[in-house]
Amino acid sequence: MDKSTIQDIRERFDNDVERFSNLDTGQVSTIDATISLELITESAKRITPAATALLDVGCGAGNYTLKMLTKLPGLDCTLVDLSKPMLDKAFDRVSAVTNGSVETKQGDIREIVLPGNHFDVILAGAVLHHLRDDNDWETTFAKLFRLLKPGGCLMISDLITQDTELLNDYTWERYGDYLESVAGKEYRQKVLDYVAKEDSPRSMNYQLDLMKKVGFSKVEILHKNMCFGAFGGIK
Ligand SMILES: C[S@@+](CC[C@H](N)C(=O)[O-])C[C@H]1O[C@@H](n2cnc3c(N)ncnc32)[C@H](O)[C@@H]1O
Repeated sequence: MDKSTIQDIRERFDNDVERFSNLDTGQVSTIDATISLELITESAKRITPAATALLDVGCGAGNYTLKMLTKLPGLDCTLVDLSKPMLDKAFDRVSAVTNGSVETKQGDIREIVLPGNHFDVILAGAVLHHLRDDNDWETTFAKLFRLLKPGGCLMISDLITQDTELLNDYTWERYGDYLESVAGKEYRQKVLDYVAKEDSPRSMNYQLDLMKKVGFSKVEILHKNMCFGAFGGIK
């Protein structure tokens, strides 16, 4: 199957702003969304209590930044997303709660130019699973590492796979059961078809190894439940 292009992905999210604008309920199609949101933002606060600069890649409507600002108010926020309607929504929501600066940048995280050694915290919520081949993953992780100040952290919450195929099948079967319990068989099929078309997730082991390879001094697992995980690294 041909995977979605960047244009396909952008158009889909252009039309999905409201669904991503609820901080409290998280996303129903994401197992433990609310727990992961809390864990990665609280961990970022504890790792960098004096943080001043935040980067949110694939910010959507700004949920992760908004949560971070409840813990570290006044951060200067840089918001990156493919989708202009998402960025506009994120800008409005984030500007309303921070005294710091808010900058939006529309584009692909792989290409967008950002200052090196600049950010205390980088948040990547449900976005890195859009990366495709090994080169894509490695250059993006190396880039995010470069953008962090020493001591800064990259915090990820995302869809993941397992390295062992039969366990991978098992976790996705359980995810399918979860989707069916939320909204029935059709919803299960719709979400799984969409994942097959649009997403190319990697395992948590793969990503933690890659973080070590590109230079992170520490990597940490915060949470894992079937094919969703929250984890990160410290520069
Ligand atoms: C599933 S949404 C998650 C949004 C937000 N982080 C949240 O959890 O509420 C993924 C977002 O990433 C953006 N996105 C996907 N691929 C991207 C890329 N290569 N560069 C920048 N943004 C991207 C999409 O436009 C979308 O807004």
